[in-house]
Amino acid sequence: MRSVLPFAVLMALAVPAAAEDPAAPSAPIPLEIKDASGNQLSGDPGKEKGETQFKQCQVCHTLEDGVNKVGPSLYKIIGRTAGSVEGFNYSKANKESGVVWTEQNMWEYLQKPNGFMPGTKMAFAGIKDPQKRADLIAYIQLHSK
Ligand code: HEC
Repeated sequence: MRSVLPFAVLMALAVPAAAEDPAAPSAPIPLEIKDASGNQLSGDPGKEKGETQFKQCQVCHTLEDGVNKVGPSLYKIIGRTAGSVEGFNYSKANKESGVVWTEQNMWEYLQKPNGFMPGTKMAFAGIKDPQKRADLIAYIQLHSK
């Protein structure tokens, strides 16, 4: 019997500490992205990962419906056809690209936007690190719907 109480106390302490805040998940989620070697990628949307990456985009984009800045709103961007935000003045290159923003296409675009879409007016050099791009897309996927 002597060992029962300390165990119960330990559990009581451990449970709240392990409880997760659903608003700030930080665990990789599987993505529909394959890298050059055919490996399927996961991305971590958490504070230190995807959320931090997204800070670079916030200068020009929001994830809110109808709120455009220098760039169009990225609300529900995944699965949307390029150039389809009402009232945003896109470049011809973007508007007429015919690209659908799947996770895979976004991952490739964000490596070097003007390489993927020559003539885009998105003035952003790109994110070289493949995992950082995956983390960013996980964040967008979670927060843009
Ligand atoms: C300096 C401002 C700027 C930054 C920083 C920026 N963008 Fe953009 N983005 C734009 C502009 C402007 C467009 C419209 C491009 C066009 O019409 O050619 C755009 C277009 C896009 C599109 C296509 C939208 C559509 O409706 O077709 C996506 C996706 C996108 N940006 C994602 C991002 C992400 C993710 C980041 C952060 C890594 C980012 N952008 C950083 C300005 C920016």
